[in-house]
Amino acid sequence: MKIGNKIYFDYNATTPVHPEVAKLMNKYYLQTFANAGSAHSFGMDAFEGLDWARSTCAQSLNGKKEEILFTSGGSESDNLALQGVISRYRTIHPGKTPHLIIDTIEHPAVFETAKYLESRGVSVTRLSVDAEGSVTPEQVEEAITPDTALISIMYANNEIGTINPIAEIGKIAHKHGILFHTDAVQAYTKIQIDTKSENIDLLSVSAHKFYGPKGVGFLYVKNDPDAQKNESTASHLLDPLMYGGSQEYSMRPATENIPGVVGMAKAIELSGNDFEEENARLRGLRDDLIDHILQEIPDTRLNGSRTHRLPHNVNICFQDVFAYDLMIKLDNAGIMCSVGAACHAGDTTPSRVLLGIGLSSEQAESSMRFSIGRWTTQEDVDTLLQLLDQYVPSMRR
Ligand SMILES: Cc1ncc(COP(=O)(O)O)c(C=O)c1O
Repeated sequence: MKIGNKIYFDYNATTPVHPEVAKLMNKYYLQTFANAGSAHSFGMDAFEGLDWARSTCAQSLNGKKEEILFTSGGSESDNLALQGVISRYRTIHPGKTPHLIIDTIEHPAVFETAKYLESRGVSVTRLSVDAEGSVTPEQVEEAITPDTALISIMYANNEIGTINPIAEIGKIAHKHGILFHTDAVQAYTKIQIDTKSENIDLLSVSAHKFYGPKGVGFLYVKNDPDAQKNESTASHLLDPLMYGGSQEYSMRPATENIPGVVGMAKAIELSGNDFEEENARLRGLRDDLIDHILQEIPDTRLNGSRTHRLPHNVNICFQDVFAYDLMIKLDNAGIMCSVGAACHAGDTTPSRVLLGIGLSSEQAESSMRFSIGRWTTQEDVDTLLQLLDQYVPSMRR
């Protein structure tokens, strides 16, 4: 995608809002702007938008409307899942020490929340990942204790794109009667997710990763099959983090961000229109990038899995090249990509994820992420490859 003469290779960090999403959101800012809780007809129009957005989110992962809680994005959804479930567990099992299972390469939204919970007396197991960045169901099963309240394993990693065996991990969790949460912020709209067949109880989504607005997302929370229609049973599984009005079944009070959730739903609808074709196209561009780099540029290695990989993620270690310098050189040439996780621009401490898959500090500091999306063309990929061919050999330490 060219903006002026710049090319964007950082879709794992965030995506531009799709023009059709922006158009619909504009309508909800300027015309259908009312509070969905208002009883007048303007309010009802806004409620209709909210309801449509909830149905669209639910259908996208084989869920029900009552299973969707709108939030401000991935970080809030992860926090609500982890803190909410642990708090509920403490209420139901007074005197017990809740146990939480995560892995070492989770996004900070899960990793740091687990650290916080640990400081408040929760016992946390952090599973190490294999060289590709994957967790096995066997590892999860071995870590389970009688007090395990929640297992939280990410669907796919944001830095190296590795996809975990989620359905199998969910099966293990359910075999032991334990709730299973997955952070699907990077995987959602790239992989067809089915919460029922994949044994998922809680799942986090963020709209800005798939051409929706920033600051909007949802947490899927599985409903009790015996629940009455239109009733959410989320409060049986988790406690809210905030108290106030009755919005989002009182699990997340605040006047609803209707332009945001409608925009997110529009982005979901658009991704569904060409899901197979677009993801196949991305896989083709991704593989071109990987193949060319590994074959044409000596001393390079792919970080993460070759086969169980998000269609839009490439992460490469350029041995003996300081990746931060390469990123700046590419930026000066009009190419935007990232080192480590993009959210921490300027932070050059070696990535916890790359160290987690066994890279040395030097290898981690020599690694770069190129992530592609709806507006990446073959020409963009060719331009990037030409520059890498030219820059990398002259930048070896
Ligand atoms: C895997 C993962 N989880 C959570 C988040 C946080 O999402 P948000 O930016 O919507 O808070 C991100 C964002 O980079 C992510 O990649």
